[in-house]
Amino acid sequence: MLLVSGGQVKAQDAAPAAAAPAGGGDAEKGKTLFTNNCAQCHAVSGEKVVGPGLKGIESRAPSRDWLHKWIRNSSAVIATGDAYANQVFNANGKVQMSSFPSLTDADIDGILAYIDQANKPAAPTTGGGDDKVVDNGGGGSASTGGPSELFTFVLIALLLVMLLVLGVLLVIVTILSKAVTPATDGTQVTSSFGQRLKTGLSDAFNNPTLRSIVIWLFLLVAVKETIDGAYGIGIQQGYAPKQPIAYSHKLHAGQYKIDCNYCHTGAQKGKNATIPAANICMNCHGVIKKESPEIQKIYTAIEENRPIEWIRVHNLPDLAYFNHAQHVNVGNVACQTCHGEIEKMEVVEARSSLTMGWCIDCHRRTEVNTKDNAYYDKLVALHRKESKEPLKVANIGGLECSKCHY
Ligand code: HEC
Ligand code: HEC
Ligand code: HEC
Ligand code: HEC
Ligand code: HEC
Ligand code: HEC
Repeated sequence: MLLVSGGQVKAQDAAPAAAAPAGGGDAEKGKTLFTNNCAQCHAVSGEKVVGPGLKGIESRAPSRDWLHKWIRNSSAVIATGDAYANQVFNANGKVQMSSFPSLTDADIDGILAYIDQANKPAAPTTGGGDDKVVDNGGGGSASTGGPSELFTFVLIALLLVMLLVLGVLLVIVTILSKAVTPATDGTQVTSSFGQRLKTGLSDAFNNPTLRSIVIWLFLLVAVKETIDGAYGIGIQQGYAPKQPIAYSHKLHAGQYKIDCNYCHTGAQKGKNATIPAANICMNCHGVIKKESPEIQKIYTAIEENRPIEWIRVHNLPDLAYFNHAQHVNVGNVACQTCHGEIEKMEVVEARSSLTMGWCIDCHRRTEVNTKDNAYYDKLVALHRKESKEPLKVANIGGLECSKCHY
């Protein structure tokens, strides 16, 4: 049984095989250098990440020589009082760029050639599947628990209202029947309305039918609550613990648009998405906001050679198997479909229930992403013969116990 299908086809890494690189730089080598050193803060497009987008940088910057100096040591250029350098520095909130003293002129020319090439319209840089987000029709699936909770609430509320109405009706019936029934001695009942109401009420409470109805309804509600409570054990929906460092996804993934995969490197490749080690933080915080007490905690952890003790938010029981790469890479499901809008969260909160019903629900509902994936061609053809419905995860074994349980 294939859990992580090996047959996936991804065009994303197809390097743009474009024409002559600008300025004689080696764009191929430049791409690697850029990915390893610059991509966490810069996009090759015009879009700002931590630093400005580098599209058209050569026409913007004073000269190529200036770029060599800037990239090797930007603070030195700023310190000379260079007007352009200071303007860029101020326009970006005075965030300091890392220095790269080991990069040679040829290395930097390579990077510039790569940036130039990546922005050429003919370059097939859009072949990747990364920015395609499959809408599984489940924008709300990150909160699957919502509707069922609401349903229970409405049910209980309805029951209570019905109970009240029933009680009032019975009281009225008793009072009315008292009022119109002639007394045994032949005279009309002459007691005041207040008195009649009082006897009516006490009669209602003494009425065995009404009493048993009330008791049964009460028991039903109590049992339902207990069962719901028991099922809820181990469910962490809504869990949002305070973390040891005030790290914010809203700031990093939202405002600065740092890619999820830059930190959660396992999500595309394996079972666990993984939490970044402190040295990934240091790629930036080696220079950015060193003086902040929160950032100092990262330094302390590294000095004491111990990991930062992040509190785990999502956790499946050991009996269940879940694989990120299967969903994110092969299935093309967006992180947000399961985790909600992490890029808007100051503190991470578990948005999905992570129950078996949640997994199965989605597998019943979601179509398999078979496009550009030769692995599924035969399966799709077979399925078409049998059914007019699109191929759902349920059809490829997504409901089999053994797929999710060891
Ligand atoms: C830690 C984040 C960070 C890294 C890593 C980084 N930069 Fe920067 N870069 C910045 C910031 C921030 C600015 C804006 C200027 C400033 O605030 O100092 C900038 C500015 C620039 C500029 C000038 C942009 C303009 O619009 O004129 C260039 C060119 C540049 N970076 C190239 C690079 C290259 C090439 C690399 C990789 C070798 C790199 N940077 C790595 C943060 C970074
Ligand atoms: C700069 C690094 C960084 C980036 C970028 C980043 N994260 Fe995180 N993420 C972390 C750290 C550190 C933690 C652990 C602390 C916490 O829970 O806030 C974490 C925790 C999480 C968790 C909770 C893990 C658990 O304990 O169950 C989820 C889910 C998550 N990130 C998803 C995302 C998504 C989705 C994105 C992109 C929108 C993203 N992250 C971008 C660093 C990052
Ligand atoms: C790609 C660059 C980058 C990476 C990687 C990164 N950060 Fe940041 N971080 C920033 C920027 C930019 C700021 C905003 C700085 C400012 O406000 O001037 C920031 C701010 C912060 C702050 C707020 C500091 C304060 O006092 O205002 C904390 C805390 C923080 N980061 C923690 C982390 C942790 C923990 C990691 C590793 C999991 C991490 N960062 C990784 C770029 C990064
Ligand atoms: C199909 C639903 C789904 C998608 C899509 C998904 N996750 Fe998860 N994620 C989960 C589940 C379920 C867990 C709990 C796994 C466990 O406890 O074994 C989890 C756990 C995590 C964790 C903490 C534990 C770990 O695995 O290291 C992080 C971090 C995380 N996810 C980040 C991401 C990021 C980033 C993405 C997008 C690239 C993503 N997730 C996409 C369902 C999903
Ligand atoms: C948002 C929808 C969604 C949720 C929620 C979800 N899955 Fe999936 N799952 C998918 C998709 C889509 C695929 C198909 C990926 C592919 O193309 O192979 C898949 C495939 C799988 C497979 C492989 C099935 C096969 O026959 O190859 C397993 C195992 C699996 N999921 C386990 C889980 C578990 C366990 C959970 C809950 C913790 C879960 N999934 C939650 C969408 C989801
Ligand atoms: C798509 C994935 C998936 C499939 C298919 C699946 N399960 Fe589960 N199952 C889970 C997850 C995830 C949990 C843990 C959920 C939780 O803790 O609430 C779970 C929990 C359980 C439990 C523990 C009971 C509990 O509530 O903690 C049992 C028993 C179980 N599954 C049996 C089965 C059987 C039998 C089948 C086949 C008919 C099956 N499962 C198919 C994902 C799956």
